Amino acid sequence: MTAQSGSIPLSRPQIQPRGLSPAALIAGYASLCLLPLVMAFVLALVHGHEPRDLFRELSGGLIMVAYVMMLAQFVLSGRFESVSGRAGIDRTMRFHQVAGWVVLGAVILHPLLYAAPRLWPNPLDAVTQVHRMFGSAGLRTGVIAWWLTVLLVPLAVWRDRLPFGYEIWRLSHGLFAIAIALFATHHTLRVGTHSADRWLATLWVLATAAAILCMVYIYIAKPLMKRTMPIGCCRTARSPTGPGS
Ligand code: HEM
Repeated sequence: MTAQSGSIPLSRPQIQPRGLSPAALIAGYASLCLLPLVMAFVLALVHGHEPRDLFRELSGGLIMVAYVMMLAQFVLSGRFESVSGRAGIDRTMRFHQVAGWVVLGAVILHPLLYAAPRLWPNPLDAVTQVHRMFGSAGLRTGVIAWWLTVLLVPLAVWRDRLPFGYEIWRLSHGLFAIAIALFATHHTLRVGTHSADRWLATLWVLATAAAILCMVYIYIAKPLMKRTMPIGCCRTARSPTGPGS
């Protein structure tokens, strides 16, 4: 007996999930991540700024890309169907996790790269500089964001081993993410060289505000909307030929 036998079709027509196509998603993500680099480059040309030492530029460039990736994590948390619905929750979450590790690597490297030129001739000079930077009052909000990021990723990876349930972990994950965004933005606006330009500064402020709005939507607005949604509305959304009609 074949699946086509009889007059009743065995499969319903597939409903296309909402969301951007994978090509649009990848192109949009890549453009967003490269945007601060392109802006920094164009602004440096316009203002006639000379490039600084290689490690400083490398550190600034790396962390600007990583910081956009970090803020994009708020949207790519699998909760926005209109963005990642077509990619599916499994692929979106896998991407969220891989991007988390990449961001963590960049955040760890960022302060170390400033000290890299001092590794030669005496590596202890580099250690002293890192120690000095981590103790500097001017870099305090960056240091707090750094430690929070270093904690956030392992807490997410090994959340099953934590002594509290999923809901508490999820809430703490969201609060950590918001705190990192706020501290890192304060740090960037305070000490960033490229980010001292008002266009780039405006980009950071808007991106941070958008990321925080996403969290407010996920953690507050969406659960409230679900709670206040009348039960009957689920029935009216079903197919008129379905069993609920
Ligand atoms: C999550 C943690 C951090 C993030 C997201 C972050 C992000 C950034 C960003 C975006 C810039 C601006 C780059 C530019 O405009 O050129 C910057 C600059 C800077 N950051 Fe961080 N940072 C973090 C932690 C740290 C830590 C822990 C230190 C040192 C202990 C540090 C030291 C610096 C310095 C010295 C600059 C100024 C570089 C310059 O433009 O000359 N940052 N950071």
